[in-house]
Amino acid sequence: MKLGFPVWAFSAILAAALLSCAVLALTPDGVALLELKSTLNDTKNALSNWQFLDDSPCKWTGISCHPEDQTVLSISLPYMQLGGIISPSIGKLSRLQRLALHQNSLHGVIPNEITKCTELRALYLRGNYLQGGIPSAIGNLSHLTVMDLSSNSLKGAIPSSIGRLTRLSHLNLSTNFFSGEIPDVGVLSTFGLSSFVGNFDLCGQQVQKPCRTSMGFPVVLPHASSDEAAVPAKRSSHYLKGAVIGAMTAMGLALFILLGFLWICLVVKKERAAKRYTEVKKQANSEPIKKLDRSREGSADQVLERELEILGSIKHINLMNTLLQENRLEDIVDERCTDADPETVEAVLDIAAKCTDANPDERPSMNQVLQLLEQEVISPCASDFYESHSDYS
Ligand SMILES: *[C@@H]1O[C@H](CO)[C@@H](O)[C@H](O)[C@H]1NC(C)=O
Ligand SMILES: *[C@@H]1O[C@H](CO)[C@@H](O)[C@H](O)[C@H]1NC(C)=O
Ligand SMILES: *[C@@H]1O[C@H](CO)[C@@H](O)[C@H](O)[C@H]1NC(C)=O
Repeated sequence: MKLGFPVWAFSAILAAALLSCAVLALTPDGVALLELKSTLNDTKNALSNWQFLDDSPCKWTGISCHPEDQTVLSISLPYMQLGGIISPSIGKLSRLQRLALHQNSLHGVIPNEITKCTELRALYLRGNYLQGGIPSAIGNLSHLTVMDLSSNSLKGAIPSSIGRLTRLSHLNLSTNFFSGEIPDVGVLSTFGLSSFVGNFDLCGQQVQKPCRTSMGFPVVLPHASSDEAAVPAKRSSHYLKGAVIGAMTAMGLALFILLGFLWICLVVKKERAAKRYTEVKKQANSEPIKKLDRSREGSADQVLERELEILGSIKHINLMNTLLQENRLEDIVDERCTDADPETVEAVLDIAAKCTDANPDERPSMNQVLQLLEQEVISPCASDFYESHSDYS
């Protein structure tokens, strides 16, 4: 009997404790809020009434609940000098509609878990020291109407998924370190400069800063994946890349113009030379022996010698091919040669070309010329050659 009392009393207390736990336990949202509190640095003790022993968080500082089920509807703790980070436990508040933590001293990232708060309408995180990027799945928060992330240390690309937030009417990403092209999609196209001021590496229609030059080269290089929160490149290398591409473009352009100019010069020169060549050929054709004889005399015809040297440097065969192709053989054939056949003319021209070779040693002797003429020029106007020969020698 004496031993029985403590045992009974102990059992009763245990039962009562278990009962009270079952009935009066803090709601899951309350537990999640305490997890949030645990990563905050509450220097002003503003969250002192956030107690585990309460059954509901609905009367806690900054908290309001849905009346019907006591789930957390709003967290409103601006200007509270709160330090620390935003715990990923925020994602457990599945019916949260408003998160207002602006003008505190929060650091760390905006946790990806925030995208699990699918009823979120207003997100105020302005004026903290938040780092990292905007979670790319932010576009899943389809009720979002206000998003103010201005005056933080956020960086990276602006996720294009924000464009899907059709109810978004207030967006402020000003004074952060966002970079790259602002996606010109959906509702993101409707915000202007005042939503993005103070992000010097942003470009796009919204900030009236083109991302590409008129030649299609990027002014600000967009990041590999615009939806990735993390930023790989340093901003200085950003500018460096742009500068290198710019310099290379300019050099390429200059080279292109130079080559074009040289090409035109070359064509003009070639045409002039070809004209002279044709004229010499005409003369040589009607009075070949005289010219060849003269060229052998040397001293008197140094001008011709030089001319021949220049002409010799031109590709004879190419010129003849050109003349043949353009049906301009009449240009070099004596008018009296009415029935000259192209093969013969070609052969004569070939001999003439040999006689005007750039290298004097390569030029055939008179005997060789005569032999060649006899071998190859059997038909029309062959007699003319011999006649001219006899005329002039
Ligand atoms: C909380 O903030 C105070 C003052 O800002 C600082 O001295 C302290 O180190 C911080 N504590 C933690 C755990 O960050
Ligand atoms: C966003 O929503 C889509 C469809 O509603 C879903 O498939 C996707 O997993 C969600 N993304 C995240 C990160 O929750
Ligand atoms: C965004 O915030 C900046 C300062 O943080 C302010 O100058 C600007 O007017 C705000 N823009 C909008 C659209 O409210």
